[in-house]
Amino acid sequence: MVDVDWDPESYLQTMLTEIPGYVALQEQVVAATDGLEVRDALELGVGTGETARGILARHPAARWTALDANEAMLERARRALPGADIRRSRLEDLLPDGPFDLVVSALVVHHLDAAGKQDLFRRVASVLSEGGRFVLGDVVVPETPEDAAIEIDWVVDLPDTAADQLAWLRGAGLEPELLWSVRDLVVIRATR
Ligand SMILES: C[S@@+](CC[C@H](N)C(=O)[O-])C[C@H]1O[C@@H](n2cnc3c(N)ncnc32)[C@H](O)[C@@H]1O
Repeated sequence: MVDVDWDPESYLQTMLTEIPGYVALQEQVVAATDGLEVRDALELGVGTGETARGILARHPAARWTALDANEAMLERARRALPGADIRRSRLEDLLPDGPFDLVVSALVVHHLDAAGKQDLFRRVASVLSEGGRFVLGDVVVPETPEDAAIEIDWVVDLPDTAADQLAWLRGAGLEPELLWSVRDLVVIRATR
């Protein structure tokens, strides 16, 4: 398994340079939580806390549990999110015990291969409360090759199509909808 050696100092600038639509994606991930009462949330791949900060501004009472594989990113996230329970763990590991009203992940799940994504979606469904939501913002393989705006190395980046991921989420017992899609970025909301 190959991991990116993330640097929290340069992370945001790297994202803004390399991911056209990074800011819009984060905004759409936050918007996908509207209308949900978020008491307990789990974030998969918290990074430096960019996604968490946006959602917590909208749901300030939410208890935030988050995981990430990279200790330097976690250290930055702990400073950015002082009240949160932030753990070093991988998406492939056992998820924290639910139930969670919200499970959210931005720009992380594409690091898993197809079988890994399907396995993760089943485990996410099992920790969601009844009526709870999984919000997935990520890079996908676009319907037409001309829409591939983000460079994919096919070593640590293993995106799949939105259509496949919607089918896998359905297979995991969730009701998914594609909420937003611009070129090769999407936000999917899946309800249990
Ligand atoms: C592009 S950042 C996204 C962070 C944040 N969600 C955002 O949108 O800014 C990817 C993060 O996912 C973490 N990550 C990548 N693969 C992972 C895995 N398999 N398990 C846990 N964390 C992972 C990396 O350490 C990194 O912090």
